[in-house]
Amino acid sequence: MAKETLTITDNRTGKTYEVPVTEDTIKALDLKQIHVEEGDFGLMTYDPAFMNTASCRSAITYIDGDKGILRYRGYPVDQLAEKATYLECAYLLINGELPTQSQLDKYTSDVTHHTFVHENVRTFIDGFRYDAHPMGMLVATVSALSTFYPEAKHVLDHDIRRQQMVRLIAKMPTLAAWSFRHSMGMPFVYPSNEVSYTENFLQMMKRIAEPKFEVHPEIVKALDVLFILHADHEQNCSTNVMRSIGSSRADPYVAVAGAAAALYGPLHGGANEAVLRMLREIGSVSNIPAFVKEVKSGVGARLMGFGHRVYKNYDPRAKVIKRLADQVFDLVGKKSPLLPVALELERIALTDDYFVSRKLYPNVDFYSGLIYEALQIPADMFPVLFAIPRTSGWLAQWEEMLLDKDQKIARPRQIYTGYEEREFINMDKRSPASAQPATTSKRETD
Ligand code: CMC
Repeated sequence: MAKETLTITDNRTGKTYEVPVTEDTIKALDLKQIHVEEGDFGLMTYDPAFMNTASCRSAITYIDGDKGILRYRGYPVDQLAEKATYLECAYLLINGELPTQSQLDKYTSDVTHHTFVHENVRTFIDGFRYDAHPMGMLVATVSALSTFYPEAKHVLDHDIRRQQMVRLIAKMPTLAAWSFRHSMGMPFVYPSNEVSYTENFLQMMKRIAEPKFEVHPEIVKALDVLFILHADHEQNCSTNVMRSIGSSRADPYVAVAGAAAALYGPLHGGANEAVLRMLREIGSVSNIPAFVKEVKSGVGARLMGFGHRVYKNYDPRAKVIKRLADQVFDLVGKKSPLLPVALELERIALTDDYFVSRKLYPNVDFYSGLIYEALQIPADMFPVLFAIPRTSGWLAQWEEMLLDKDQKIARPRQIYTGYEEREFINMDKRSPASAQPATTSKRETD
């Protein structure tokens, strides 16, 4: 039987090493024994952006990028989208199993009874400028919650930890909706215990003076499906931030704020907002060839909503979303004028060699913005709508990291490329800095 090891010959010294291979992985620390001279730091791997480095072992979400598979705790995401609710998925991600009816009832009740926020949070949000981006408000406000729950710092205490997890999942829609209401100059709507998690969010966003505000159940279901599709995505940029901040044992409010900040970027969760702005900028089908030419030149904009670090075949979430978009357009009775632009862009990108050869397919963000637009939600709320459901994924990953005996404070190494030690230069002897090529390459060893 073949040995589960890797044999490495260091041609600098002629020495051979054998390191164990487990789960198709070698431990980076096993390379440290490879060195040229006694006392050397030893061999490292260089992997900016974690292109081929597993930073953890995880039992939460499985992705096969080549086959277009996404599963939460083993369940295919399209089955969950069809048969479960978002809160059921949140429970699944965090607890590892689908809830029984009584477990779900209790969980729903717990979350529902934590949707209110301290009144000071109102005044905190009121302090933002009228035109503040709702994502900026969300990031700041969720971080501020840390000051309301000082016990949250006891992250290794199971009960305290779980209580903050319920609070965060419960309060994110309230903070999100209030950020929106503030940016619209509209009064805040308080949470309701009478309706579902997702309907409650829509009510807090949309209600004006109606004595009984109702949202079409299929619209609620559509948003709930979007929440399910966005709930987790294994070690993406924001989850990596959540784990990294959490690894220092910071409380989950500030860790979620950091993760949400990472999500805000246009290459990650901010892409849905960027897609809509791109489609608006293109404006009509006749302008597409010029836009695509610019994208292909590599100096202009990227085709937002296309490409993925992991999916190199198709994004299974995009498939569900495309179907959902048609349903929502039928329900609201109008198609977005940007839809023909999106469809034509997709057609070109799926046949043009530039995109095909780079395996650039539509991702989750390509169509989600058009659905939000049909629901009359403004573009700067799109990343906020991503952050609400991703909170359950962040928290599941955070707790898994805290309980993982292999994990320690996240602290990568670097290859130092700066100056060797040099003497301090007094002010009167300095000349304008001129770029000096780095002459050394040295390991940092603290
Ligand atoms: N439009 C045009 N060219 C692209 C695009 C794009 N959207 N994405 C990648 N490329 C090109 C890129 O220029 C590079 O070409 P070359 O080999 O000639 O230099 C090649 O494809 C590989 O790209 P990369 O940047 O090395 O790939 P990556 O894995 O680092 O980036 C990505 C992944 C998602 C950041 C990137 O595809 C992208 O910027 N997409 C647009 C933004 C977007 O839609 N983001 C949402 C991602 S899904 C949801 C989420 O994560 O939140």
